Amino acid sequence: MQTLNQSLQEKANQMLKLIKSSFYNEKETKQALADFILNEEILSMNKECARFEASFAAKQGRKHAVYVSNGSVADFLLVQSLMNQGVFKKGDKIGFSALTWPTNVMPLIQLGLIPVAIDCELDTLNVSPQKLSEYISDLKGLFLTNVLGFSDDISGIRALCEQYGVVLIEDNCESLGSKVGDTLLGNFSLAATFSFFVGHHMSTIEGGMIVTDDDELHEYLVMGRAHGWDRNLSPDAQQRLRSGAKVDDFYAKYTFYDIASNFRPTEINGFIGNTQMPYWDEIVGKRADNFRKYSEAMSANQDFYQYDLSHMEIVSNFSMPIICKTPELATLYRQRFADAGVEIRPVIAGNMTKQPFYQKYVDDREARPNSDLVHANGFYFGNNPELTDEEIALLCGLLGK
Ligand SMILES: Cc1ncc(COP(=O)(O)O)c(C=O)c1O
Repeated sequence: MQTLNQSLQEKANQMLKLIKSSFYNEKETKQALADFILNEEILSMNKECARFEASFAAKQGRKHAVYVSNGSVADFLLVQSLMNQGVFKKGDKIGFSALTWPTNVMPLIQLGLIPVAIDCELDTLNVSPQKLSEYISDLKGLFLTNVLGFSDDISGIRALCEQYGVVLIEDNCESLGSKVGDTLLGNFSLAATFSFFVGHHMSTIEGGMIVTDDDELHEYLVMGRAHGWDRNLSPDAQQRLRSGAKVDDFYAKYTFYDIASNFRPTEINGFIGNTQMPYWDEIVGKRADNFRKYSEAMSANQDFYQYDLSHMEIVSNFSMPIICKTPELATLYRQRFADAGVEIRPVIAGNMTKQPFYQKYVDDREARPNSDLVHANGFYFGNNPELTDEEIALLCGLLGK
């Protein structure tokens, strides 16, 4: 009998892949991109990036959006900027979702903060107010991940953070377009990050965004994205900084005000972002429709843990997590999907505290049983807007008992 690894390997070339295309409407987008490159003189960050930021901020309903080179850097820059601003200080304890992506928590370690992993609920895969309440009195901040288009009671989480003076920020890299009530995920906090890596809701090949309504944080983000200089700030902000530091015009362009790096995107990414923005509703809507069909199919099968997302107006994810009740069932369903030529993978990266990098740098052996169970018994397959009816039917069929 073939092992799971062998059948995964053999089917790799004929698979229903997790990532179906580089962009939505790929052919037209690539043609437009080729024309743009041929005709555009400036390809470093310029007006296309600025236009993408403005339309993203407007669509998300936030005052500011800062475009960067990827979602990981968006996470890093947000934390760095909060430290530059004095909101977080070295040694502060910052909560995060145990079930997340490594570059969500790595910046906390890199920047001398103390990460505190919070377990998820099995019916939402997200941190709940109940789980948060076990840790909240120790925390200065919470970097909450909205996992795979889902959320728990995020209004309750926000209320708890307000009550305890905990600064809430969201990693929304997996949840563009999902809504609780009439509020988009990414709008429950001081600031939120997004990823535009291929396969995420909207792709700019690589790319990330940080949104906020806070003018001061926005200035720190803009400086932190590019060397710590003031060149991308408003004339008023430049004037304020230059007179504060007593810098004359000769030195102004080469004065560096805070800790930074170079996290800029290119005009190529900005241009792609502008081609994809008009598809936002279509992309989110189709993923939400697919999610509804997957949910209906899985709800008839008691081999899986069921989700309770009734509080969510829109659930739009880029892949569908399935958590089996036992490890044996997980083996059975993973094999079934692999045999049908459907690419699957673990659910994000499991319990972060079990990852080698975390164990190397953080002394934390506390149990997070639900995140462990998601890792041990889970898998996910793709949800993208260009799946055919036939493909959706195949995937729903595989979810049957
Ligand atoms: C929750 C979360 N945060 C951050 C990232 C990093 O985004 P990027 O791949 O654009 O670096 C990801 C990537 O998938 C993610 O899932």
